[in-house]
Amino acid sequence: MSFDLLAPHYRWMEALCAGGQLQRCRTALLTALSTPQHVLVYGEGNGRFLLELCRHFPAAHVTVVEASAVMIDLARTRLQRAGLAHAYVEFIHADALIWQPPVATFDLIVTCFFLDCFRADQLQQLIPTIASAATPDAQWLLADFQIAPAGLRRLSSRVIVGFLYAFFRCVTRLSANELVNVEPYLTAAGFTRHARREFILGLLFCEARQR
Ligand SMILES: C[S@@+](CC[C@H](N)C(=O)[O-])C[C@H]1O[C@@H](n2cnc3c(N)ncnc32)[C@H](O)[C@@H]1O
Repeated sequence: MSFDLLAPHYRWMEALCAGGQLQRCRTALLTALSTPQHVLVYGEGNGRFLLELCRHFPAAHVTVVEASAVMIDLARTRLQRAGLAHAYVEFIHADALIWQPPVATFDLIVTCFFLDCFRADQLQQLIPTIASAATPDAQWLLADFQIAPAGLRRLSSRVIVGFLYAFFRCVTRLSANELVNVEPYLTAAGFTRHARREFILGLLFCEARQR
């Protein structure tokens, strides 16, 4: 699996497919979070969320775990262009399925459109590993796709999500092929939801969770 090929095209493709809705979804609940000191961001991508995170919490130390070197370059350049090269950001070029985070270190975990990259058997291992990096009172900011519960919205979300998996599996060699409901894993790790928003008729959601 690699997002390197896709990385240079990710921004315009996102704009074409969803306008500003994905970015609205990623950032909508930044104001619902208490100020973090140490943030762990998984699968940041090209740095659009990271820039807003650094603007919103300028004193936070941010660790980014990202498997794509091209995405990391894009994110670094974006921070530099915005005059935030000095921000406390450490990029770790690693596979989240292998990298072991330091224990009980981060008071904010971020996964935006990241957990949808994994199969259920992978999430069963990955989410407890990520949770082990969180402090006892940590927050978790999550954004992702979802399948609507019923009606025409359910049908359209299934078609759109199905198309996205076909595309990403072809271009990035992703092994996941369907959305997994991560709610039970997050709840089992002690993270309960305190804020939630939906976008594009419920196709996208974001949540702020707290231990
Ligand atoms: C669908 S993109 C989402 C990017 C961005 N967070 C967003 O909101 O659009 C998934 C990102 O996670 C990264 N990623 C996927 N699998 C990964 C893994 N096993 N370890 C680390 N990063 C991974 C990809 O390189 C990519 O940047």
